[in-house]
Amino acid sequence: MPTNLTLGEFIIQNQEHFPYSSGELSSLINAIRLASKTVNHEVNKAGLVDIVGAHGETNAHGEDQQKLDVLANRVFIKALQNREIICGLASEEEDDFINFDIDSKANNNKYIVLIDPLDGSSNIDVNVSVGTIFSIYRRVSKLGAPAQMEDFLQKGHAQVAAGYVVYGTSTMLVYTTGKGVHGFTLNPALGTFYLSHPDMKFPKSGSIYSINEGNYFHFPEGVKLYIKYCQASGVNRPYTSRYIGSLISDFHRNLIKGGIYLYPSTKNHPNGKLRLLYECNPIAFLAEQAGGKATNGYKRILDINPKQLHQRVPFYCGNTEMVNRLEGFLAQ
Ligand code: AHG
Ligand code: MN
Ligand code: MN
Repeated sequence: MPTNLTLGEFIIQNQEHFPYSSGELSSLINAIRLASKTVNHEVNKAGLVDIVGAHGETNAHGEDQQKLDVLANRVFIKALQNREIICGLASEEEDDFINFDIDSKANNNKYIVLIDPLDGSSNIDVNVSVGTIFSIYRRVSKLGAPAQMEDFLQKGHAQVAAGYVVYGTSTMLVYTTGKGVHGFTLNPALGTFYLSHPDMKFPKSGSIYSINEGNYFHFPEGVKLYIKYCQASGVNRPYTSRYIGSLISDFHRNLIKGGIYLYPSTKNHPNGKLRLLYECNPIAFLAEQAGGKATNGYKRILDINPKQLHQRVPFYCGNTEMVNRLEGFLAQ
């Protein structure tokens, strides 16, 4: 049920939901909230870039016009760097993780963040929803030194918080700290996020399947069989096919309406396309908190031991009973 609670008030009221200090959580979410408003503003005028930014013009800040995913990357890094919470950050847009140890104070910070600053960026040019994904861990390396690779290569079940922002018909911030999934909608006139979707859960059953079917001939046999199952007649079937091509938007719709998202291995992407650390893990954490399930077809996503920052995995996520059935077909 929608309420008039703001995101800031909600964090304060639910302090005990965060296993560590509430001040740290507020500061983290505040940084993300702030950055997301800036990115939201940029996304909303994306169509104007060619007009406003023609002839190599610079923007209001005197900077060259940038691709939005590069811009979103900078905005989030800057917002998170300015807090005394994060010691390092990894991003889809950066080859290596970044240490915030320019002032050695940051070496005493306890958290690291992984982000996909702009997910679904190919949809920007055609005015279709995109998003930002974030994943937060406590560091495991020693305080007082720069962040280490081991801080970023933790299993997904160690996440302390994760979430996304979807820049859609309205802008929403959805996050979990392991005590349910809560969604906040931005009132653009006031610049305030309000709790609009408390304790989000997948509906009991779903009837949407989301997959890039153009890759059909390159899917594993089990996935092909499952797609035929989705298309055959039965209770609630044939299912409806919906695919936006922004993981965040596809997941958000399936969470609300009930459905399954699939990105299997394909010819071009033998290990799947999606990245474990800043796409699949945060979405898997949210999915489980919402009563759903996320696997690579055989194993829980949150139990995978990461080996590389930009590692890819096949990804199946959504209503538990739908993911279970898919796994059944893969096991055949
Ligand atoms: P990104 O824009 O961050 O690179 O992510 C794109 C991802 C994901 O959002 C989406 O679900 C998927 O790529 C779509 O891939 P296909 O175009 O291969 O279907
Ligand atoms: Mn992405
Ligand atoms: Mn991206």
